[in-house]
Amino acid sequence: MRIDVHTYTNRFADNKLHSCTAIVIDVLRATTSIIRAAQNGALKIIPTKEPGDAASVAMNIGARDCVLAGERGGIRLPGFDIGNSPLDFSHELVSGKNVIFCTTNGTQAICGMSGAANLLIGAMINRTAVARRAVELGQDIVIMCAGTDGRFSADDICAAGAIIDAIYSFVGRIPTDDCGIVSHLLYRDWLENRIDLDSTLHCSRLIRLGFGDDVKFCFTPDVTDVVPFLKDGVITV
Ligand code: MLT
Repeated sequence: MRIDVHTYTNRFADNKLHSCTAIVIDVLRATTSIIRAAQNGALKIIPTKEPGDAASVAMNIGARDCVLAGERGGIRLPGFDIGNSPLDFSHELVSGKNVIFCTTNGTQAICGMSGAANLLIGAMINRTAVARRAVELGQDIVIMCAGTDGRFSADDICAAGAIIDAIYSFVGRIPTDDCGIVSHLLYRDWLENRIDLDSTLHCSRLIRLGFGDDVKFCFTPDVTDVVPFLKDGVITV
């Protein structure tokens, strides 16, 4: 078993993916929101690439049974019920509902990785649980960081390091690529308060937009044991 860490671009292609477990991370905020929706009883979460696709899916299922969620530029899409604040995916709103979800980078990365043998949804809030599940599955692990428009994003890399740290605690230091090694170092520095991520691109933008509470929540380790997974285009637990 080995771990490789990548940043998602829509050109990502890996012919070994069909025999790997992929963990997709968009810690700020899409995968954190998905995990919270699942934790709060959403029936299923359907990731989509475009707002129009999300609206059509909701129309086919029936608007009363759906919560339409999504953002562009961090802001709720017009006509959508909620944006992408994990704190909005409350039990009252999502329990028993289908969440149709469209975000700038996170849902793109999830849809783009659907060829993996197993696709798990990871974030800081489920880091130990997702690591345990990936180890149980016994295959090579690809951690796919959604990043920001195809670019490296330090928040995702730190969360990847947090998951690698948990994997190491289960199986020891298995082979890891350079990005995995750097992710782990970044996570250890963050954990021991040697760096903070507030000035990084995505963090600082969310804080500027008034989403500081989201950032705090997204960086709280091990809030839940819920590990959502994608099968046939649908995320469930
Ligand atoms: C994304 O998918 O790009 C993010 O989750 C954006 C956000 O923070 O809303």
